Formats: sequence, structure tokens, C-alpha cells
Amino acid sequence: MQKTLLSGVKPTGTVHIGNYFGAMRQFVDHQDDYRQFIFLANYHALTSVSDGALLRKLSLDLAIDYLAIGIDPKKTTLFLQSDVPEVTELAWIFNTITTVPYLSRAHAYKDAEAKNKEVSVGLFDYPILMAADILIYGADVVPVGLDQKQHIEIARDTAQKFNRVFGETFKIPEPIILEEVKTVPGTDGRKMSKSYNNVIGLFASDEEIKKAVMSIPTDSKGIEESKNPSDCKVFAIHELFPGKDTEALRARYIAGGIGYKESKDLLIEKIIAFVSPMRALREEIAGDTEAVLKILKEGAQVARREAQKTMSAVREKVGLTLK
Ligand code: ADP
Ligand code: TRP
Repeated sequence: MQKTLLSGVKPTGTVHIGNYFGAMRQFVDHQDDYRQFIFLANYHALTSVSDGALLRKLSLDLAIDYLAIGIDPKKTTLFLQSDVPEVTELAWIFNTITTVPYLSRAHAYKDAEAKNKEVSVGLFDYPILMAADILIYGADVVPVGLDQKQHIEIARDTAQKFNRVFGETFKIPEPIILEEVKTVPGTDGRKMSKSYNNVIGLFASDEEIKKAVMSIPTDSKGIEESKNPSDCKVFAIHELFPGKDTEALRARYIAGGIGYKESKDLLIEKIIAFVSPMRALREEIAGDTEAVLKILKEGAQVARREAQKTMSAVREKVGLTLK
């Protein structure tokens, strides 16, 4: 039997090349090899978006983005997380076997705490909802970017704990992380993130791409000076496009004789060439939102059936059903 792959992205902003190269392109590459579930993590998005109209818009945009990168609804079950409310029920059950000290060790929570942010209960519990997403569909593998590694570990721990307490129920999922991609830097040098306003949008216009690349900070080395490619954020983005050109560029960095302006110009060309066909396809798809909504609805039916199957076993095991 085919193994199950599951992953999701939050509809919280503009999808960027970090999302694509770190995670989303794997959703396209694997769709012939796995039974695949891909969703829009809109319950998770609620931990950072508190504007209904905005969330609705971002969700529709992300659904179009998924289709534009090549997710094929004939091969992939594409759906909205909240169309399967069973996942929140499972998260609640997991909450009852999860301790506060355990969740307090999660990076996202610790980071927010360190910055003295007011952490909502939802943000604190984020990894448990994510565990429910993964386990309810019996995922074998979960392709994500490096920053999600800990969340997959929490899902694994949660499956093991449930199985220990209530008997064998859940598969233990494995992450798929493209180690060579690492974390793509944003235009301010931090991790590229929808929430930092530092992205190169996956569907950005030529002008937006130019502006974003030109704003990446570099050091003050002159053209002739030798440069360490591993210290350069511009080069880190070149590396998303491996090949002869990138290797030649690496050699030029080390030898000296290339300035950051030229490196940025080359990068702009590469990104525009890469983004243009997807951008055109996206425009076409965006012209028929009814078709997009229909795909999500059909996906939700398939996903929900699967989740309900899992939940009837879970409800029985924990004793919520009376006979
Ligand atoms: P963001 O931080 O941009 O809001 P999400 O948290 O929605 O992104 O992440 C969606 C997927 O993209 C996840 O699998 C995540 O690991 C991956 N991802 C996000 N940002 C990056 C990045 N800068 N580099 C590599 N992968 C990333
Ligand atoms: N937390 C993930 C992110 O920020 C999104 C997500 C939610 C997810 N549930 C998931 C990813 C389940 C993989 C599997 O990117």
C-alpha cells in the first residue's frame, strides 16, 4: 500500500521562496509516490491573524498558490484544515495527556516568551494541534522546512504517549527535511518568513523581485576582494538554484573580482526566470475562484472521512463512547 504524506502551510501572508524551496516543492515532487494530503493550516493561522476578512483572503490566495506550483487535485487531497473539525477534538484529547513543562520546551513558545510577548493559549498549544493534523490522517512522512523539526518530534512523542496509555493506535511519523536547503534567509538577513516583511514572494512581480534582492544586506568588501560565499546572504539564495552557474559564482566569490551588485543582478535574473511561468499560471487559476473552492470542498470530503475513521477508534479507546 502507498505510504501517506501530509503537510500544511499557514495562510498568514505572502508565500515566499523560502516556503517553496524549504517545503512546498516537495509536495509537488512527491505527489506520484504517496497518498498525499496537503492542507491550509487556517486554525493555526488564527494564532496570528485576528481579522476574518483577511484570513479568508489569505486562505483563498494560498489555495491558488498551491495549485499554481503544481499541486494536482487528482493526485493530492487539498483541503482547508477547518473543514475537518475533528482535528480540534483530537487536539483536545492530546492536551489531556500532555504536560505544561513538556510544551514549555517548544522553541516557538520559548522565543515568544523571551521577547516578552503575551503568549495565547492557542500559540502555546500550537504543536499539539499540529500533532493532531499529522496523526489523524495516519501520516507516514511529513515534508517540512528545518524550522518545523521540533514540531514533528512533538507529534512523534504524542503518538507514542497515546499508544502507551491507550494501546497501539497511531503511526509514528517521519519528517522529510531537505538538509541542503537549510533555512532561507530573508531580505533583512533573518529567516525569510511571512510574518517578518522580509520575503521574496514566490509570485512577485519583476519590480518586487528587484527591490527585494537589492535590499539584502551585504558587507562592505570591494569588488576585487576575496569573499566567503558562506557568509553572504545573496549567495545563500543563489544556492537554491544549484548547478554549474552557481559553482562558477562560488569560485568567483573566493577568487575576488565580483561585487555584490553583480551577484544581485545575476540573482534577480535567476529568480525572474524561475518565477515567471508559475506567476502566469497563477493568474489563470485566480480567474476562476469557484473552481478553486470546489477543489477544496472535494478535498475536505476525502480528508474528513479519513479523520472520522481515526476518531471513532480514538473515542472508543479513551472511553467517550458508551458501548
Ligand atoms: P512562514 O514562517 O513564512 O510563515 P510557515 O511557518 O507557514 O512559514 O511555513 C511553511 C513551510 O515553509 C514550513 O514547512 C516551513 O518549515 C517552511 N519554511 C518557512 N520559512 C522557511 C525558510 N525561510 N526557509 C526554509 N523553509 C521555510
Ligand atoms: N506549523 C506549520 C508551519 O508553520 C504548519 C502546519 C500546521 C503543519 N500543521 C501541520 C505542517 C502539519 C506539517 C504538518 O509551517
